[in-house]
Amino acid sequence: MTEQSATLKIGDKSVDLAVKSGTIGPDVIDIGALYKNTASFTYDPGFTSTASCESKITYIDGDEGVLLHRGYPIEQLAEHGDFLEVCYLLLYGELPTAAQKKDFDYRVTHHTMVHEQMSRFFTGFRRDAHPMAVMCGCVGALSAFYHDSTDITDPHQRMVASLRMIAKMPTIAAMAYKYHIGQPFVYPKNDLDYASNFLRMCFAVPCEEYVVNPVLARAMDRIFILHADHEQNASTSTVRLAGSSGANPFACIAAGIACLWGPAHGGANEAALNMLQEIGSVDRIPEYVARAKDKNDPFRLMGFGHRVYKNYDPRAKIMQKTTHEVLGELGIKDDPLLEVAMELERIALTDEYFIEKKLYPNIDFYSGITLKALGFPTTMFTVLFALARTVGWIAQWNEMIEDPQQRIGRPRQLYIGEPKRDYVPVSKR
Ligand code: CMC
Repeated sequence: MTEQSATLKIGDKSVDLAVKSGTIGPDVIDIGALYKNTASFTYDPGFTSTASCESKITYIDGDEGVLLHRGYPIEQLAEHGDFLEVCYLLLYGELPTAAQKKDFDYRVTHHTMVHEQMSRFFTGFRRDAHPMAVMCGCVGALSAFYHDSTDITDPHQRMVASLRMIAKMPTIAAMAYKYHIGQPFVYPKNDLDYASNFLRMCFAVPCEEYVVNPVLARAMDRIFILHADHEQNASTSTVRLAGSSGANPFACIAAGIACLWGPAHGGANEAALNMLQEIGSVDRIPEYVARAKDKNDPFRLMGFGHRVYKNYDPRAKIMQKTTHEVLGELGIKDDPLLEVAMELERIALTDEYFIEKKLYPNIDFYSGITLKALGFPTTMFTVLFALARTVGWIAQWNEMIEDPQQRIGRPRQLYIGEPKRDYVPVSKR
Protein backbone atom coordinates (compact mmCIF):
# COMPACT_ATOMS: atom_id res chain seq x y z
CA MET A 1 0.00 0.00 0.00
CA THR A 2 2.95 2.32 0.75
CA GLU A 3 4.20 3.96 -2.45
CA GLN A 4 6.06 7.05 -1.35
CA SER A 5 7.16 8.87 1.75
CA ALA A 6 7.07 12.41 3.09
CA THR A 7 9.91 14.04 4.98
CA LEU A 8 9.22 16.25 7.96
CA LYS A 9 11.90 18.49 9.46
CA ILE A 10 11.59 19.68 13.04
CA GLY A 11 14.64 21.67 14.21
CA ASP A 12 17.66 19.54 13.39
CA LYS A 13 15.63 16.34 13.25
CA SER A 14 14.32 14.89 10.02
CA VAL A 15 11.86 12.05 9.85
CA ASP A 16 10.54 10.02 6.93
CA LEU A 17 6.83 9.31 7.06
CA ALA A 18 5.09 6.68 4.96
CA VAL A 19 2.42 7.92 2.55
CA LYS A 20 -0.43 5.47 2.12
CA SER A 21 -2.92 5.38 -0.75
CA GLY A 22 -6.45 4.07 -0.57
CA THR A 23 -8.42 2.75 -3.54
CA ILE A 24 -9.74 6.26 -4.28
CA GLY A 25 -9.46 9.59 -2.46
CA PRO A 26 -6.60 11.56 -0.94
CA ASP A 27 -3.45 9.84 0.31
CA VAL A 28 -2.69 9.88 4.03
CA ILE A 29 0.63 10.54 5.75
CA ASP A 30 1.17 7.93 8.43
CA ILE A 31 2.28 9.85 11.53
CA GLY A 32 1.89 6.92 13.93
CA ALA A 33 5.60 6.96 14.87
CA LEU A 34 5.95 10.77 14.88
CA TYR A 35 5.93 11.22 18.65
CA LYS A 36 8.37 8.37 19.18
CA ASN A 37 10.81 9.83 16.63
CA THR A 38 10.40 13.58 17.20
CA ALA A 39 8.67 14.01 20.61
CA SER A 40 6.07 16.19 18.80
CA PHE A 41 2.36 15.73 18.25
CA THR A 42 0.31 16.98 15.29
CA TYR A 43 -2.31 19.64 15.96
CA ASP A 44 -5.62 19.52 14.06
CA PRO A 45 -8.62 20.90 15.97
CA GLY A 46 -11.85 19.62 14.42
CA PHE A 47 -9.81 16.92 12.62
CA THR A 48 -9.98 18.76 9.29
CA SER A 49 -6.83 17.00 7.98
CA THR A 50 -6.89 13.81 10.00
CA ALA A 51 -7.92 10.32 8.87
CA SER A 52 -8.66 8.40 12.06
CA CYS A 53 -8.94 4.91 10.57
CA GLU A 54 -8.92 2.74 7.46
CA SER A 55 -12.43 1.94 6.27
CA LYS A 56 -14.07 0.03 3.42
CA ILE A 57 -17.61 1.19 4.09
CA THR A 58 -18.33 4.68 2.73
CA TYR A 59 -16.50 7.05 0.42
CA ILE A 60 -17.27 10.75 -0.02
CA ASP A 61 -15.76 13.09 -2.59
CA GLY A 62 -16.88 16.42 -1.18
CA ASP A 63 -15.65 18.49 -4.14
CA GLU A 64 -17.49 16.41 -6.70
CA GLY A 65 -20.56 15.71 -4.51
CA VAL A 66 -20.09 11.93 -4.59
CA LEU A 67 -21.26 9.47 -1.93
CA LEU A 68 -20.58 5.73 -2.32
CA HIS A 69 -21.51 2.89 0.03
CA ARG A 70 -19.22 -0.11 -0.55
CA GLY A 71 -18.63 1.45 -3.98
CA TYR A 72 -22.27 1.89 -4.97
CA PRO A 73 -23.46 5.49 -5.65
CA ILE A 74 -26.14 6.70 -3.24
CA GLU A 75 -28.34 7.73 -6.20
CA GLN A 76 -28.51 4.11 -7.43
CA LEU A 77 -29.12 2.69 -3.97
CA ALA A 78 -31.91 5.21 -3.28
CA GLU A 79 -33.50 4.64 -6.69
CA HIS A 80 -33.34 0.84 -6.87
CA GLY A 81 -32.67 -0.51 -3.38
CA ASP A 82 -34.54 -0.61 -0.13
CA PHE A 83 -33.26 0.30 3.31
CA LEU A 84 -32.70 -3.26 4.56
CA GLU A 85 -30.75 -4.05 1.41
CA VAL A 86 -28.53 -1.04 2.15
CA CYS A 87 -28.21 -2.23 5.77
CA TYR A 88 -27.03 -5.62 4.51
CA LEU A 89 -24.57 -3.94 2.15
CA LEU A 90 -23.13 -1.74 4.90
CA LEU A 91 -22.85 -4.62 7.37
CA TYR A 92 -21.58 -7.41 5.11
CA GLY A 93 -19.84 -5.51 2.29
CA GLU A 94 -21.87 -6.90 -0.65
CA LEU A 95 -25.42 -6.56 -1.92
CA PRO A 96 -27.44 -9.60 -0.81
CA THR A 97 -28.64 -12.33 -3.14
CA ALA A 98 -32.42 -12.85 -3.17
CA ALA A 99 -32.08 -15.65 -0.59
CA GLN A 100 -29.75 -13.62 1.63
CA LYS A 101 -32.12 -10.64 1.45
CA LYS A 102 -35.10 -12.78 2.41
CA ASP A 103 -33.22 -14.24 5.35
CA PHE A 104 -31.91 -10.84 6.50
CA ASP A 105 -35.37 -9.23 6.29
CA TYR A 106 -36.76 -12.14 8.30
CA ARG A 107 -34.08 -11.85 10.98
CA VAL A 108 -34.52 -8.09 11.36
CA THR A 109 -38.31 -8.34 11.34
CA HIS A 110 -38.26 -10.97 14.08
CA HIS A 111 -36.22 -8.78 16.41
CA THR A 112 -38.51 -5.72 16.27
CA MET A 113 -40.30 -6.21 19.59
CA VAL A 114 -38.63 -4.76 22.68
CA HIS A 115 -38.67 -6.30 26.13
CA GLU A 116 -42.07 -5.51 27.62
CA GLN A 117 -40.42 -3.96 30.66
CA MET A 118 -38.99 -1.29 28.34
CA SER A 119 -42.46 0.25 28.09
CA ARG A 120 -42.36 0.96 31.82
CA PHE A 121 -38.95 2.52 31.39
CA PHE A 122 -40.57 5.20 29.20
CA THR A 123 -42.97 6.30 31.91
CA GLY A 124 -40.01 7.50 33.99
CA PHE A 125 -39.60 10.40 31.56
CA ARG A 126 -41.55 13.63 31.78
CA ARG A 127 -44.31 13.73 29.18
CA ASP A 128 -42.74 16.83 27.58
CA ALA A 129 -39.26 15.30 27.38
CA HIS A 130 -37.56 15.78 24.01
CA PRO A 131 -37.74 12.43 22.16
CA MET A 132 -33.97 12.58 21.59
CA ALA A 133 -33.46 12.65 25.37
CA VAL A 134 -35.70 9.59 25.59
CA MET A 135 -33.75 7.89 22.80
CA CYS A 136 -30.39 8.48 24.52
CA GLY A 137 -31.76 6.94 27.71
CA CYS A 138 -33.67 4.01 26.21
CA VAL A 139 -31.01 2.89 23.73
CA GLY A 140 -28.36 3.07 26.46
CA ALA A 141 -30.69 0.98 28.62
CA LEU A 142 -30.83 -1.83 26.03
CA SER A 143 -27.57 -3.19 27.45
CA ALA A 144 -29.46 -3.77 30.70
CA PHE A 145 -32.08 -5.84 28.85
CA TYR A 146 -29.94 -7.84 26.42
CA HIS A 147 -26.96 -9.13 28.41
CA ASP A 148 -26.60 -12.04 26.02
CA SER A 149 -25.26 -9.84 23.22
CA THR A 150 -22.74 -7.59 24.98
CA ASP A 151 -19.60 -9.73 24.66
CA ILE A 152 -17.84 -7.82 21.91
CA THR A 153 -15.16 -10.49 21.44
CA ASP A 154 -17.79 -12.93 20.14
CA PRO A 155 -18.67 -12.25 16.45
CA HIS A 156 -22.01 -14.01 16.86
CA GLN A 157 -23.02 -11.80 19.80
CA ARG A 158 -21.86 -8.74 17.88
CA MET A 159 -24.14 -9.66 14.96
CA VAL A 160 -27.08 -10.37 17.28
CA ALA A 161 -26.60 -6.96 18.94
CA SER A 162 -26.33 -5.35 15.48
CA LEU A 163 -29.57 -6.91 14.22
CA ARG A 164 -31.31 -6.11 17.47
CA MET A 165 -30.47 -2.44 17.20
CA ILE A 166 -31.44 -2.12 13.52
CA ALA A 167 -34.70 -3.94 14.32
CA LYS A 168 -35.60 -2.25 17.60
CA MET A 169 -34.66 1.33 16.79
CA PRO A 170 -37.94 2.00 14.87
CA THR A 171 -39.92 0.46 17.74
CA ILE A 172 -38.16 2.60 20.33
CA ALA A 173 -38.40 5.73 18.15
CA ALA A 174 -42.14 5.16 17.63
CA MET A 175 -42.60 4.55 21.37
CA ALA A 176 -40.77 7.83 22.11
CA TYR A 177 -43.20 9.57 19.75
CA LYS A 178 -46.32 7.90 21.14
CA TYR A 179 -45.27 8.66 24.70
CA HIS A 180 -44.63 12.29 23.72
CA ILE A 181 -48.17 12.72 22.32
CA GLY A 182 -49.92 10.62 24.97
CA GLN A 183 -51.07 7.76 22.73
CA PRO A 184 -50.74 4.03 23.44
CA PHE A 185 -47.71 2.20 22.07
CA VAL A 186 -48.35 0.24 18.87
CA TYR A 187 -46.61 -3.14 18.58
CA PRO A 188 -44.67 -3.97 15.41
CA LYS A 189 -46.43 -5.98 12.71
CA ASN A 190 -44.27 -8.59 11.03
CA ASP A 191 -46.00 -8.72 7.65
CA LEU A 192 -45.05 -5.11 6.91
CA ASP A 193 -41.77 -3.90 5.48
CA TYR A 194 -39.40 -1.85 7.66
CA ALA A 195 -40.62 1.64 6.68
CA SER A 196 -44.33 0.72 6.57
CA ASN A 197 -44.06 -0.92 9.96
CA PHE A 198 -42.45 2.22 11.36
CA LEU A 199 -45.14 4.52 9.92
CA ARG A 200 -47.81 2.24 11.39
CA MET A 201 -46.19 2.19 14.83
CA CYS A 202 -46.10 6.00 14.74
CA PHE A 203 -49.49 6.83 13.27
CA ALA A 204 -51.87 3.93 13.97
CA VAL A 205 -54.24 4.04 16.94
CA PRO A 206 -55.95 0.96 18.43
CA CYS A 207 -59.44 2.24 17.62
CA GLU A 208 -58.95 2.42 13.84
CA GLU A 209 -57.55 0.35 11.00
CA TYR A 210 -54.34 1.90 9.62
CA VAL A 211 -53.61 1.50 5.94
CA VAL A 212 -50.05 2.30 4.89
CA ASN A 213 -49.75 4.62 1.91
CA PRO A 214 -47.10 2.98 -0.32
CA VAL A 215 -45.85 6.31 -1.73
CA LEU A 216 -45.25 7.64 1.77
CA ALA A 217 -43.67 4.35 2.89
CA ARG A 218 -41.30 4.48 -0.09
CA ALA A 219 -40.41 8.10 0.81
CA MET A 220 -39.76 7.06 4.42
CA ASP A 221 -37.58 4.18 3.24
CA ARG A 222 -35.63 6.52 0.95
CA ILE A 223 -35.07 8.96 3.83
CA PHE A 224 -33.64 6.04 5.83
CA ILE A 225 -31.35 5.09 2.91
CA LEU A 226 -30.08 8.66 2.54
CA HIS A 227 -29.14 8.81 6.22
CA ALA A 228 -27.71 5.30 6.58
CA ASP A 229 -24.00 6.17 6.76
CA HIS A 230 -21.65 9.06 6.10
CA GLU A 231 -18.10 7.88 6.91
CA GLN A 232 -16.24 9.38 9.90
CA ASN A 233 -18.63 12.20 10.88
CA ALA A 234 -18.91 13.43 14.48
CA SER A 235 -21.40 10.82 15.75
CA THR A 236 -19.69 7.92 13.95
CA SER A 237 -16.33 8.98 15.34
CA THR A 238 -18.02 9.16 18.75
CA VAL A 239 -19.28 5.59 18.36
CA ARG A 240 -15.82 4.40 17.28
CA LEU A 241 -14.13 6.24 20.16
CA ALA A 242 -16.60 4.88 22.71
CA GLY A 243 -16.22 1.40 21.21
CA SER A 244 -12.41 1.62 21.24
CA SER A 245 -12.47 1.24 25.02
CA GLY A 246 -14.35 -2.05 24.68
CA ALA A 247 -17.72 -0.57 25.71
CA ASN A 248 -20.79 -2.63 24.81
CA PRO A 249 -22.54 -1.88 21.48
CA PHE A 250 -25.72 -0.47 23.00
CA ALA A 251 -23.73 2.03 25.08
CA CYS A 252 -21.71 3.02 21.98
CA ILE A 253 -24.82 3.67 19.89
CA ALA A 254 -26.34 5.71 22.75
CA ALA A 255 -23.16 7.84 22.67
CA GLY A 256 -23.62 8.30 18.91
CA ILE A 257 -27.23 9.42 19.43
CA ALA A 258 -26.12 11.98 22.03
CA CYS A 259 -23.57 13.43 19.60
CA LEU A 260 -26.01 13.44 16.69
CA TRP A 261 -28.44 15.59 18.66
CA GLY A 262 -26.35 18.78 18.25
CA PRO A 263 -27.64 21.42 15.78
CA ALA A 264 -24.38 21.39 13.79
CA HIS A 265 -24.96 17.68 13.08
CA GLY A 266 -28.23 15.71 13.09
CA GLY A 267 -30.12 18.42 14.96
CA ALA A 268 -29.85 20.57 11.84
CA ASN A 269 -33.00 19.08 10.25
CA GLU A 270 -35.10 20.29 13.18
CA ALA A 271 -33.27 23.62 13.18
CA ALA A 272 -33.71 24.01 9.38
CA LEU A 273 -37.48 23.59 9.54
CA ASN A 274 -37.72 25.92 12.54
CA MET A 275 -35.72 28.46 10.52
CA LEU A 276 -38.01 28.14 7.47
CA GLN A 277 -41.01 28.62 9.77
CA GLU A 278 -39.39 31.65 11.37
CA ILE A 279 -38.65 33.20 7.97
CA GLY A 280 -42.28 32.48 7.10
CA SER A 281 -42.52 34.25 3.75
CA VAL A 282 -40.38 34.85 0.69
CA ASP A 283 -40.17 38.62 1.25
CA ARG A 284 -38.29 38.08 4.54
CA ILE A 285 -35.53 35.95 2.99
CA PRO A 286 -33.12 38.86 2.24
CA GLU A 287 -33.16 39.82 5.92
CA TYR A 288 -32.09 36.30 6.94
CA VAL A 289 -29.51 35.98 4.18
CA ALA A 290 -28.00 39.29 5.37
CA ARG A 291 -27.90 37.95 8.93
CA ALA A 292 -26.20 34.73 7.80
CA LYS A 293 -23.51 36.82 6.11
CA ASP A 294 -22.99 39.16 9.08
CA LYS A 295 -19.83 38.16 10.98
CA ASN A 296 -21.22 39.73 14.18
CA ASP A 297 -24.44 37.72 14.04
CA PRO A 298 -24.20 34.07 15.16
CA PHE A 299 -27.14 33.15 12.88
CA ARG A 300 -26.39 30.56 10.17
CA LEU A 301 -28.60 29.30 7.40
CA MET A 302 -29.45 25.88 8.77
CA GLY A 303 -29.34 23.15 6.16
CA PHE A 304 -26.53 24.92 4.33
CA GLY A 305 -22.82 24.10 4.32
CA HIS A 306 -20.98 20.93 5.12
CA ARG A 307 -17.54 20.05 6.45
CA VAL A 308 -16.89 17.67 3.55
CA TYR A 309 -19.22 18.65 0.68
CA LYS A 310 -18.01 21.73 -1.12
CA ASN A 311 -20.55 20.98 -3.84
CA TYR A 312 -24.25 20.06 -3.85
CA ASP A 313 -24.83 17.30 -1.25
CA PRO A 314 -25.95 14.37 -3.50
CA ARG A 315 -28.41 13.35 -0.79
CA ALA A 316 -30.05 16.80 -0.91
CA LYS A 317 -30.88 16.34 -4.61
CA ILE A 318 -32.63 13.02 -3.99
CA MET A 319 -34.31 14.49 -0.92
CA GLN A 320 -35.66 17.42 -2.95
CA LYS A 321 -37.24 14.95 -5.43
CA THR A 322 -38.73 12.93 -2.56
CA THR A 323 -40.18 16.12 -1.04
CA HIS A 324 -42.04 16.87 -4.26
CA GLU A 325 -43.32 13.28 -4.48
CA VAL A 326 -44.67 13.36 -0.92
CA LEU A 327 -46.29 16.78 -1.27
CA GLY A 328 -47.80 15.65 -4.60
CA GLU A 329 -49.20 12.45 -3.09
CA LEU A 330 -50.72 14.35 -0.17
CA GLY A 331 -52.14 17.02 -2.46
CA ILE A 332 -50.23 19.76 -0.65
CA LYS A 333 -50.05 22.58 -3.16
CA ASP A 334 -48.36 25.91 -2.61
CA ASP A 335 -46.78 24.86 0.66
CA PRO A 336 -45.41 28.15 2.07
CA LEU A 337 -42.41 26.41 3.63
CA LEU A 338 -41.47 24.78 0.34
CA GLU A 339 -41.86 28.13 -1.37
CA VAL A 340 -39.51 29.76 1.17
CA ALA A 341 -37.07 26.82 0.88
CA MET A 342 -36.90 26.93 -2.92
CA GLU A 343 -36.45 30.69 -3.04
CA LEU A 344 -33.84 30.57 -0.26
CA GLU A 345 -31.96 27.89 -2.15
CA ARG A 346 -32.13 29.94 -5.37
CA ILE A 347 -30.82 33.08 -3.66
CA ALA A 348 -28.08 31.25 -1.75
CA LEU A 349 -26.85 29.46 -4.87
CA THR A 350 -26.46 32.79 -6.68
CA ASP A 351 -25.13 34.85 -3.76
CA GLU A 352 -21.39 35.66 -3.82
CA TYR A 353 -20.93 34.84 -0.10
CA PHE A 354 -22.35 31.34 -0.44
CA ILE A 355 -20.61 30.70 -3.78
CA GLU A 356 -17.24 31.80 -2.47
CA LYS A 357 -17.54 29.67 0.69
CA LYS A 358 -19.02 26.77 -1.29
CA LEU A 359 -22.09 26.60 0.91
CA TYR A 360 -24.65 24.35 -0.78
CA PRO A 361 -27.89 22.90 0.61
CA ASN A 362 -27.23 19.74 2.61
CA ILE A 363 -29.60 16.83 3.25
CA ASP A 364 -31.24 18.56 6.19
CA PHE A 365 -32.51 21.42 4.07
CA TYR A 366 -35.30 19.42 2.42
CA SER A 367 -35.76 16.49 4.81
CA GLY A 368 -37.62 18.64 7.36
CA ILE A 369 -40.34 19.66 4.88
CA THR A 370 -40.84 16.02 3.88
CA LEU A 371 -40.97 14.74 7.44
CA LYS A 372 -43.44 17.46 8.40
CA ALA A 373 -45.66 16.46 5.46
CA LEU A 374 -45.44 12.82 6.57
CA GLY A 375 -46.91 13.94 9.89
CA PHE A 376 -43.87 14.10 12.18
CA PRO A 377 -43.37 17.01 14.60
CA THR A 378 -39.98 18.75 14.39
CA THR A 379 -38.86 17.17 17.68
CA MET A 380 -38.91 13.76 15.94
CA PHE A 381 -36.69 14.74 13.02
CA THR A 382 -33.36 13.97 14.65
CA VAL A 383 -34.81 10.76 16.08
CA LEU A 384 -35.49 9.58 12.52
CA PHE A 385 -31.93 10.46 11.55
CA ALA A 386 -30.65 8.41 14.53
CA LEU A 387 -32.86 5.48 13.54
CA ALA A 388 -31.45 5.42 10.02
CA ARG A 389 -27.83 6.13 11.02
CA THR A 390 -27.82 3.25 13.51
CA VAL A 391 -26.80 0.79 10.78
CA GLY A 392 -23.88 3.01 9.75
CA TRP A 393 -22.71 3.33 13.34
CA ILE A 394 -22.97 -0.43 13.79
CA ALA A 395 -21.14 -1.25 10.55
CA GLN A 396 -18.34 1.15 11.49
CA TRP A 397 -18.21 -0.22 15.05
CA ASN A 398 -17.95 -3.81 13.77
CA GLU A 399 -15.27 -2.82 11.28
CA MET A 400 -13.28 -1.17 14.06
CA ILE A 401 -13.47 -4.21 16.32
CA GLU A 402 -12.31 -6.49 13.51
CA ASP A 403 -9.42 -4.16 12.60
CA PRO A 404 -6.13 -5.70 13.84
CA GLN A 405 -4.70 -2.16 14.22
CA GLN A 406 -7.48 -1.16 16.60
CA ARG A 407 -6.36 0.39 19.90
CA ILE A 408 -8.12 2.62 22.38
CA GLY A 409 -8.62 6.09 20.82
CA ARG A 410 -6.54 8.51 22.86
CA PRO A 411 -5.83 11.93 21.28
CA ARG A 412 -3.18 14.18 22.81
CA GLN A 413 -3.23 17.96 23.28
CA LEU A 414 -1.30 21.19 23.13
CA TYR A 415 -1.25 22.22 26.80
CA ILE A 416 -1.63 26.00 27.23
CA GLY A 417 -2.42 26.10 30.98
CA GLU A 418 -0.23 27.10 33.89
CA PRO A 419 3.15 25.40 34.17
CA LYS A 420 3.89 23.58 37.44
CA ARG A 421 3.35 25.75 40.53
CA ASP A 422 3.12 25.17 44.27
CA TYR A 423 -0.06 24.88 46.27
CA VAL A 424 -0.92 27.99 48.30
CA PRO A 425 -2.88 27.50 51.56
CA VAL A 426 -6.32 29.15 51.47
CA SER A 427 -5.32 31.66 54.20
CA LYS A 428 -2.60 33.04 51.91
CA ARG A 429 -4.62 33.39 48.67
N1 CMC B 1 -24.62 29.91 7.01
C1 CMC B 1 -23.78 30.98 6.90
N2 CMC B 1 -22.43 30.88 6.89
C2 CMC B 1 -21.91 29.65 7.00
C3 CMC B 1 -22.72 28.49 7.13
C4 CMC B 1 -24.11 28.66 7.11
N3 CMC B 1 -24.92 27.61 7.24
N4 CMC B 1 -21.93 27.39 7.23
C5 CMC B 1 -20.66 27.85 7.18
N5 CMC B 1 -20.65 29.20 7.04
C6 CMC B 1 -19.46 30.04 6.88
C7 CMC B 1 -18.76 30.23 8.22
O1 CMC B 1 -19.20 31.39 8.89
C8 CMC B 1 -17.31 30.32 7.81
O2 CMC B 1 -17.06 31.62 7.35
P1 CMC B 1 -15.62 32.29 7.58
O3 CMC B 1 -14.65 31.46 6.81
O4 CMC B 1 -15.78 33.68 7.02
O5 CMC B 1 -15.37 32.27 9.05
C9 CMC B 1 -17.21 29.38 6.61
O6 CMC B 1 -18.55 29.33 6.05
C10 CMC B 1 -16.75 27.97 6.95
O7 CMC B 1 -17.57 27.49 8.03
P2 CMC B 1 -17.05 26.54 9.18
O8 CMC B 1 -17.97 26.65 10.35
O9 CMC B 1 -15.60 26.77 9.42
O10 CMC B 1 -17.20 25.12 8.49
P3 CMC B 1 -17.28 23.73 9.22
O11 CMC B 1 -16.82 22.75 8.25
O12 CMC B 1 -16.59 23.78 10.54
O13 CMC B 1 -18.85 23.57 9.53
C11 CMC B 1 -21.13 23.00 9.35
C12 CMC B 1 -19.71 22.78 8.79
C13 CMC B 1 -22.07 21.96 8.70
C14 CMC B 1 -21.13 22.75 10.85
C15 CMC B 1 -21.60 24.42 9.02
O14 CMC B 1 -21.63 24.63 7.63
C16 CMC B 1 -22.94 24.76 9.64
O15 CMC B 1 -23.00 25.15 10.82
N6 CMC B 1 -24.09 24.59 8.86
C17 CMC B 1 -25.40 24.78 9.41
C18 CMC B 1 -25.80 23.53 10.18
C19 CMC B 1 -26.15 22.36 9.28
O16 CMC B 1 -26.88 22.51 8.31
N7 CMC B 1 -25.62 21.18 9.64
C20 CMC B 1 -25.95 19.93 8.95
C21 CMC B 1 -24.77 19.29 8.30
S1 CMC B 1 -25.27 17.96 7.19
C22 CMC B 1 -25.91 16.72 8.21
C23 CMC B 1 -24.95 16.21 9.23
O17 CMC B 1 -23.76 16.03 8.95
O18 CMC B 1 -25.40 15.91 10.34
